[in-house]
Amino acid sequence: MPRDPHPVVPRQARVVVLVSGTGTNLAALLAAHDDPAWGARVVGVVSNRADAPALARAQAAGVATAVVAPADFPDRPAWDEGLARAVEVFDPELVVLAGFMRILGEPFLRRFGGRIVNTHPALLPAFPGAHGVRDALAHGVRVTGCTVHLVDAGVDTGPIVAQRAVEVLDGDDEASLHERIKVVERELLVDVVGRMAREGFTVEGRRVVLGG
Ligand code: GAR
Repeated sequence: MPRDPHPVVPRQARVVVLVSGTGTNLAALLAAHDDPAWGARVVGVVSNRADAPALARAQAAGVATAVVAPADFPDRPAWDEGLARAVEVFDPELVVLAGFMRILGEPFLRRFGGRIVNTHPALLPAFPGAHGVRDALAHGVRVTGCTVHLVDAGVDTGPIVAQRAVEVLDGDDEASLHERIKVVERELLVDVVGRMAREGFTVEGRRVVLGG
């Protein structure tokens, strides 16, 4: 049987992932992107920290990396500009914040606003900020979880794409609860990024409609 000379290769959306730390969410995205049917490909990983273990995960997967450290820039707007330029090089359709622990400024939002996705380890709008798990525990909630949302100029205030709940168990500490949230979070992030890439999305007020 002659081989089809023009196999149909599904188009994959170009995704840049911003990281600051361990990179288990990044690892889940990298595990998904070899399957063209997922609909997205991680084309670059950018970190604000040169020592982020996430960078080694990207390199091991053969994905280009860049470090944009605040200490290398004279001020905050210059860093924002540097970060935007580093991401722009990869010409992404989606930017995913996976454990990226800095607030994005105006220069970045001007270029990529509306197509930046963040994953947060709490059920927003409850417990935004850098300590979502710790704050939820301190409040005594019995159910928390994770949220994937679009990024706007506020701190974890953008329209919500998807959420999953995780029960708080007696005896949980921040580490044990965060670990259980991260298991659910990775699955949700892979699912949502794939759907956004394959189906597209629209924003109607506070609602994100996949496939729109
Ligand atoms: C994730 O749980 C993510 O939601 C959280 O950091 C962790 C990163 O884990 N992000 C925030 O708290 C942002 N406010 P990872 O480096 O193993 O992917």
